[in-house]
Amino acid sequence: KLQQTLALIKPDAYQHQQLIVYRILQEGFTIVHQKSFQFTQDQAALFYREHEHQPFYSTLTEWMASAPVYALILEKEDAIQSWRTLMGPTDANKARATEPTSLRALYGTDGSRNAVHGSDCSTSAQREINLVFDQQREPVTSTNT
Ligand code: CMP
Repeated sequence: KLQQTLALIKPDAYQHQQLIVYRILQEGFTIVHQKSFQFTQDQAALFYREHEHQPFYSTLTEWMASAPVYALILEKEDAIQSWRTLMGPTDANKARATEPTSLRALYGTDGSRNAVHGSDCSTSAQREINLVFDQQREPVTSTNT
């Protein structure tokens, strides 16, 4: 079904954003919103809270807050899985070995600096879209004032 997902171009691939956006369009995604921004440490910690007990959590969140990232809301049939396939395996070295045309193979560095992020399910997608694109939402209008 028609779905939306949140894509991030991480600091290590930020310089390649034009090539990545070109590839996204070539693969048939619609870009609903896009922006460049920098996470605060608190926002990065919240964004990755499902990993808070992982040994790499503080390294990951500090790195993600250290420099600008590029965020996109992507729409397509089966967008969540489709974007994960285009990204390739989490570890960029594994991606180069198994999915050499994937974005992580082309632009990632290793198992942590892996160029791009994608939501893992529709619940995460909604949460991540709200977290990153909060100011784009319609203001809530009160009906009883
Ligand atoms: P992402 O898809 O953004 O989701 C969680 C991130 O944690 C992942 O990409 C990597 O950047 C990072 N990550 C996942 N596994 C490891 C690991 N074993 N060591 C270091 N970083 C990791």
